[in-house]
Amino acid sequence: MSFKINKLLVITSGGDAPGMNAVIRAVVRTAIYEGIEIYGCRMGYQGIVEQEPFLLDSHFVSNCIQRGGTILQSARYEKFKEKTTRDQARAKLAQYNIDAMVVLGGDGSFRGATLLEREGGPRVIGVPCTIDNDIAGTEYTIGFNTARNTAVNAIDKIRDTAFSHNRNFLVEVMGRASGFLAVDVGIAGGAEFILIPEIPLSIDDLAARIAMNKAHNTKLGSIIVVAEADNPGHSFAIAEQLQQRLHEEYKVCVLGHTQRGGTPSVEDRKIGSLMGARAVHALQQGQTQKMLVIKQGQLLLADFPDPTAVARQFSDMELLKINKILCNV
Ligand code: F6P
Repeated sequence: MSFKINKLLVITSGGDAPGMNAVIRAVVRTAIYEGIEIYGCRMGYQGIVEQEPFLLDSHFVSNCIQRGGTILQSARYEKFKEKTTRDQARAKLAQYNIDAMVVLGGDGSFRGATLLEREGGPRVIGVPCTIDNDIAGTEYTIGFNTARNTAVNAIDKIRDTAFSHNRNFLVEVMGRASGFLAVDVGIAGGAEFILIPEIPLSIDDLAARIAMNKAHNTKLGSIIVVAEADNPGHSFAIAEQLQQRLHEEYKVCVLGHTQRGGTPSVEDRKIGSLMGARAVHALQQGQTQKMLVIKQGQLLLADFPDPTAVARQFSDMELLKINKILCNV
């Protein structure tokens, strides 16, 4: 079944992620190639309600592929959970005769898109974009690869000073309620321990394990990577508690929003470009309420995640086991 799209809208919603611009560029240029009028709206769903969509041309996306952030800007828009707000958005889109949308964002953004369509709004295809890599149904989200590199670069710098002073560091990384970012960054950064919400560890247990490691190796300083675990800044409390038990100082470095910015990696640009182009083609093929996913290295189309389900959780215990061997011998 094919579907004739006359006017397509592209928005970026939720937290920005490096590589979003490659997706926008691909959506815009594929739409133009296919003879579709392509519109953009700034600030995601909030922009649809409070601003006006505007026509995009190929020039709009020139020179953006290498830039972090999103040239369309983004917003977290709590009011979109209310039907009256979605009604306003639907009315605005109808006024512009928008018959399909490509939404770049995470599962909250896809939930909004699904409700909007079910209530009579345009057809929608999602492109998963978040540095957290926590969207159920895909093994990869745009921005994850760049954020990992950014965090590991920061750890490399912290290592220099940790070694010079014989110091211990807790490095807190983002990831919301999932540990994907922390695990990859911890392994690549040579972290002695990786703390993630999926595998809770009491402070007493952590202190005991650190003490055990210290007893049989002579490391100069150590790096512990801590996932923010939906509680940004909690590493300060962990550091204090470790200090009380081990009588050693633990410095804290919260990497925070530095992980969201910066030049997107080759991977994020390439996969972003492919997903953007496929999103337009999927809509032309009559698909809706689906997202582009990577599964076992393949670019596929899959249903949006179950809106009632929790975010994807890290479960590859083998990776953590290997890190334990590599960092504790
Ligand atoms: O979802 C991406 C993310 O960067 C999370 O890792 C983090 O918890 C959150 O967004 C921060 O959101 P905000 O930029 O709205 O403070």
